[in-house]
Amino acid sequence: MNVLIATDKPFAAEAVNSIREVIENAGFQCLLLENYKEKSQLLEAVSDANAIIIRSDIIDAEVLNVAKNLKIVVRAGAGYDNVDLNTATANNVCVMNTPGQNSNAVAELALGMMVYAMRNFYDGSSGSELSGKKLGIHAYGNVGRNVARIAKGFGMEVYAFDPYCPGEIMEKDDVKQVNSAEELYSDCQFISLHIPATAETKNSINYTLLNKMPKKALLINTARKEVINEPELVKLMEERTDFKYVTDIMPSNHEEMSSKFGKRYYSTPKKIGAQTAEANNNAGIAAARQIVDFFKTGNQKFRVNK
Ligand code: 3PG
Repeated sequence: MNVLIATDKPFAAEAVNSIREVIENAGFQCLLLENYKEKSQLLEAVSDANAIIIRSDIIDAEVLNVAKNLKIVVRAGAGYDNVDLNTATANNVCVMNTPGQNSNAVAELALGMMVYAMRNFYDGSSGSELSGKKLGIHAYGNVGRNVARIAKGFGMEVYAFDPYCPGEIMEKDDVKQVNSAEELYSDCQFISLHIPATAETKNSINYTLLNKMPKKALLINTARKEVINEPELVKLMEERTDFKYVTDIMPSNHEEMSSKFGKRYYSTPKKIGAQTAEANNNAGIAAARQIVDFFKTGNQKFRVNK
């Protein structure tokens, strides 16, 4: 079996070694395509692969159709909006993710970005603290739960909205459950986004919702840029000079955002939420093990396409 690691944004070297070990110990061959610049490199590399481990790499119909021997794609991470699930299913390719494996890394970054924004991007002026402030977590999955745990250490009051998460989970974590996004945004000065990019959520973070946030609002996005209605965020930030936005996913209108809202806006140059040695190891090794298990025992526990 040929297992290709195809990562435009490479894993830490130690993670690649560990992934390789899992693959080779199973008697499979490990191929590596890192830091590629052209789609043609990916198309060439997948042509012999029986399995692929990816991150945010785009696996569209063109890629799936040239990968004639492909049986499984594992997204080493949570969100799989970068994979064309319909074509994968039509081509009889199993798609999996590795839920939870990089969530602490993303959550730590979300809190780090809150401190950074509230200390005025470390410009030396007097900022404010997280302690005692209300944090609203929009979607209470693996990342949201880690954000809640860490935010409590900062002394924040934590609220969450997630129609797919049973209330008992929030109750057990001592997080206040609210019943609508509108209520969450109205109550909380800080909102941390953890929703996936789906047909339902794309552009859903809009002017009306954001304008409900109290004074000195801070929106933190470590999820996906597609969930934000970008023109409406611009309109809101033009009207509300108390509103700050920090994001780990550079918006399509980054130049406009920086020039208009320099002191109230920050984007990382490249998505770094899951870019830690620990998260790379956890997600990469999990992906390799899932592939080995899939071929040896048929296990499809983390399959996301039906
Ligand atoms: C995820 O969905 O797991 C995160 O957004 C991390 O993505 P990355 O592997 O591209 O850094």
